[in-house]
Amino acid sequence: MENITILGSTGSIGTQTLEVVEKISNEFRVYALCCRKNIDLLKKQIAKYKPEVVCVESFEDKKALENEFRNTKVLFGSEGILELAKDKKTDILVAATSGIVAVRAVIAAIENNIKVALANKETLVMAGEIVMKKAKQFNTPIIPIDSEHSAILQCLNTFNNPYAKRLWITASGGPFLNNTREEMKNFSVTDALNHPRWSMGKKITVDCATLVNKGLEVIEAHHLYNFNYDNIKVVIHPQSIVHSFVEYIDGSFLAQMGVPSMHIPIQYALLYPKRFEGIKTNSFCPFGKTLEFLEADFEKFPLLNLTIEAGKQGGILPAILNAANEEAVYKFLNKEIKFLDIEKIVFEQIEKAQNIINPTLDEIFEADKITRQKINLIKA
Ligand SMILES: NC(=O)c1ccc[n+]([C@@H]2O[C@H](COP(=O)([O-])OP(=O)(O)OC[C@H]3O[C@@H](n4cnc5c(N)ncnc54)[C@H](OP(=O)(O)O)[C@@H]3O)[C@@H](O)[C@H]2O)c1
Repeated sequence: MENITILGSTGSIGTQTLEVVEKISNEFRVYALCCRKNIDLLKKQIAKYKPEVVCVESFEDKKALENEFRNTKVLFGSEGILELAKDKKTDILVAATSGIVAVRAVIAAIENNIKVALANKETLVMAGEIVMKKAKQFNTPIIPIDSEHSAILQCLNTFNNPYAKRLWITASGGPFLNNTREEMKNFSVTDALNHPRWSMGKKITVDCATLVNKGLEVIEAHHLYNFNYDNIKVVIHPQSIVHSFVEYIDGSFLAQMGVPSMHIPIQYALLYPKRFEGIKTNSFCPFGKTLEFLEADFEKFPLLNLTIEAGKQGGILPAILNAANEEAVYKFLNKEIKFLDIEKIVFEQIEKAQNIINPTLDEIFEADKITRQKINLIKA
């Protein structure tokens, strides 16, 4: 049995990971759980899965949990997360927190040779070069959870396939695929959260509506699979059945298909390279009658191009873009700005940015912090 630690256990990926672990409970044991402040749900998870260790954000929550669960060790704050990430009793660390807190945790796990199942986007977007260099140095596997990167891994069958020529990342196109820019101007938070295919956390759902999410996935794929940006393509596939495909040098394309459920890539990441029974599909063909593939509209969704460009430039630009986008998305979710203001804010920060090539982790975090401060000074 392998010990699993889940950072972000109360979130969309975290809760689904627990559902998967429950199904294949002969293979895994929940060793540790970590969230920020959803203590009600964490308490239910502690009662059900009986982890040895948990971690929360505040000291007050730590104290309260210690009083209630006498057999559970309770850590807190960013030091607590780091301690958890280094804990050698963990066999697999599931990095499923949102935000930048996962970056140092993933690096700590890598340095301690703990296999990482990676959902968190910021880790590779902000610090892809540093993280992948460490993973190579310590020979620690990083297995992606995101459905697109999981699909690519399944099509490549290894992290380094010399016959693969191009990676094709599919995108549903989000809720505004068929709307004009004029219409997008007035779209509300409810409109942006109405994703046609996937049910996810709010921030990533808005990123799907702007297609930033797809740009971030291109950056992640570049780092994970060591592919040049020119050989990573984005294709719109509204049905979200083909999760990505790989083009080989002989003209063959291998695609991975599945119903849109994160259970499949989560299970694949936990068990890799083994497979186990999973979602049952009884109908003759569970994918419907039509699969469409359309060109991405870079004019309608300018943040897609900007995100990929920031990835190409590298340095601290992806961190600046990520921070600007996240802050702008939260302003939009709080109804402080309109939907198209998200791109205005992100473009402004990238246009003003002074890049640093080969930055240290501290420089990346500093760029993140300064960008967030600048955006929070902007009045709506
Ligand atoms: N959802 C998807 O289908 C999907 C697919 C691919 C990739 N991803 C990526 O996976 C990550 C998680 O996404 P999600 O949709 O699961 O997000 P989510 O539903 O918002 O959940 C975030 C989780 O992280 C925890 N968290 C946030 N900040 C923390 C901190 N400072 N310390 C400790 N825990 C913290 C939250 O705890 P509280 O609940 O206590 O706040 C929660 O458990 C993101 O980077 C996202 O881009 C998600």
